Amino acid sequence: MTELAATFKQQAVAEAYQHRPPYPDEVFDRLVHLITDPPRRVLDIGAGDGAIARPLAPRVEHVDAIDFSQPMVDTGRQRPGGDHPNLGWQVNPIEAADLDGPYALVTAGASIHWMPWEETFARIVPQLTPNAQLVVIEHGPVDMPWWDGVLTAIQKHSRKQNHDPKYNVFDAIAERGLLDVNGTARTEPVVYRQRVADYVEQFHSTSSLARDLMSPDEADDFDAIVEEAVRPYAQDGVLELKVQAELSWGRPKIPS
Ligand SMILES: C[S@@+](CC[C@H](N)C(=O)[O-])C[C@H]1O[C@@H](n2cnc3c(N)ncnc32)[C@H](O)[C@@H]1O
Repeated sequence: MTELAATFKQQAVAEAYQHRPPYPDEVFDRLVHLITDPPRRVLDIGAGDGAIARPLAPRVEHVDAIDFSQPMVDTGRQRPGGDHPNLGWQVNPIEAADLDGPYALVTAGASIHWMPWEETFARIVPQLTPNAQLVVIEHGPVDMPWWDGVLTAIQKHSRKQNHDPKYNVFDAIAERGLLDVNGTARTEPVVYRQRVADYVEQFHSTSSLARDLMSPDEADDFDAIVEEAVRPYAQDGVLELKVQAELSWGRPKIPS
């Protein structure tokens, strides 16, 4: 797990990351509504290139975006909104980060499964406002008629072969007694149009399909299988994706 998480420190992964679809706007409306305490300060853990932190920063007082990957943070600083005055970046593992609470919201977009939960929660819980929530957010394309073909490529080349599609990280954290669960929501799907080449490339932003983990021939083979699977569904080289996000939130705690 730790070894795969380290792939996010690779430059090529940070570059491929720009091709992941953005979170739907509804995510940010929901996040803003989950803040009920002053000050409206947010901690974004495993912030990556700021897919959550950058759109959120102008809507709150401040976001501290923490990530242990220098290339991800460097990329995020260059991306739209990356230099917003409400946004502070820090390259550090969350379990050793310098936190500057109190925070009224903690966000974790596709990141908390990589972290040591006990150490992470020991760090963040003392920094929370009385009603602060931790929100775990996952997102991606849904209803993809080409998915079986993509799965063939993933099964052939992924460095993580024990993927359990039923595993829910938020439930697992709650089962460990680290959370009081307060809610879940799914956004309406939104259309995102993407060039086939960019759709293929975004798979290399995942820890298990990073280019540096494969030989060039393996990467070419992966790309060719995915491209063949999606090509019949593309128009003029562009795919129409339906992107949906799921948010789960609760009050983090340190078990006594
Ligand atoms: C899949 S990316 C998600 C990035 C961003 N939150 C998003 O939603 O696009 C996971 C991120 O978690 C970071 N990460 C993993 N373990 C971490 C840790 N212990 N402390 C800080 N960042 C960590 C990785 O470097 C990576 O950028």
